[in-house]
Amino acid sequence: MRILITGGAGFIGSHLTDRLVEDGHEVTVIDNLSHGKKHQVPPQARFYEADVTGPELDGIFEACRPEVVYHHAAQINVVTSLQQPLKDAGTNILGTLALLMHCKKYGVKKIVYASSAAVYGTPQYLPVDERHPVKPLSFYGISKHSPEHYIEAFSALYGIDYTIFRYANVYGPRQDPEGEGGVISIFLNKLAKGEVPAIFGDGYQTRDFIYVKDIVSANAAALTSGGGRTLNVSCNVPSSVNGLLELLCSLTGNKVTAEYKPALPGDIRHSVLCNEAAKSELIWTPQYSLEEGLKDTLAFEKMADQTNDEK
Ligand SMILES: NC(=O)c1ccc[n+]([C@@H]2O[C@H](COP(=O)([O-])OP(=O)(O)OC[C@H]3O[C@@H](n4cnc5c(N)ncnc54)[C@H](O)[C@@H]3O)[C@@H](O)[C@H]2O)c1
Repeated sequence: MRILITGGAGFIGSHLTDRLVEDGHEVTVIDNLSHGKKHQVPPQARFYEADVTGPELDGIFEACRPEVVYHHAAQINVVTSLQQPLKDAGTNILGTLALLMHCKKYGVKKIVYASSAAVYGTPQYLPVDERHPVKPLSFYGISKHSPEHYIEAFSALYGIDYTIFRYANVYGPRQDPEGEGGVISIFLNKLAKGEVPAIFGDGYQTRDFIYVKDIVSANAAALTSGGGRTLNVSCNVPSSVNGLLELLCSLTGNKVTAEYKPALPGDIRHSVLCNEAAKSELIWTPQYSLEEGLKDTLAFEKMADQTNDEK
């Protein structure tokens, strides 16, 4: 199949690109490299350093004629969204709209969109299912949610199929410590440097961490299922930040005590997403527990370090 992946040089997008290339698809990647890295795009994929809001989008669609578009390009930083809401909305809302207009013009059959648990805001009940009210707390949450409406409207008006995924906290190799689910990469980074990690609040706040390979398998399943659906993609397992650090220390052989700092204003206490709809719609189930995902991340990064040393 001919597939276009936006943000394919970034953390999640590059793993998805690897998988779709391996599966034998003809993959094109667009990324403006504002946060992604070109070397993360496998050589079998065609790469365009381009912005989803830019005029070059038309030529790229013309050249690659995608049947399916995976949209992962985004401004992903909550703090940036609060400091520069116009920039955030420009990339996340207008970028998606520009992409949809090209999907319509070039007869794309399906768009798969990476939305976020951030659309829900403070959970009113747990686990949060897809019927939970949407009340984003940040401009990022708003700018990830608005495109969902555009996608649904383009589908209703022009017959473009879609799957909207709302990801929980994603982690894995290549994640930048700045990202949304950054706590794991921040901790790993600190432990590798022998520095003391900081925990904001008492550390008993929980998050629903999902390994990037499970996110990729949900996306791969969306090639043939999940049409017209908005689905949480999560493990549906709460893990405390204290428990996470303890696990990381035991896996890496570190013995550090975190530095506790005041809780961040507006921080959500508990966040767990229900994944039952994704499981039944996609015939998918997450394969990695937190411990397995962390072990895989450490093994992957060790291999990458060895490869870099050999170069
Ligand atoms: N990481 C998470 O925990 C998480 C959770 C929920 C949702 N998401 C969503 O998943 C997607 C991927 O996130 P990620 O964590 O891999 O982040 P990432 O920053 O690693 O990937 C985003 C990529 O998009 C590119 N990009 C940004 N603006 C662009 C533009 N205007 N034109 C072209 N390319 C552009 C960046 O260079 C980067 O490579 C995002 O849409 C994000 O909102 C991520």
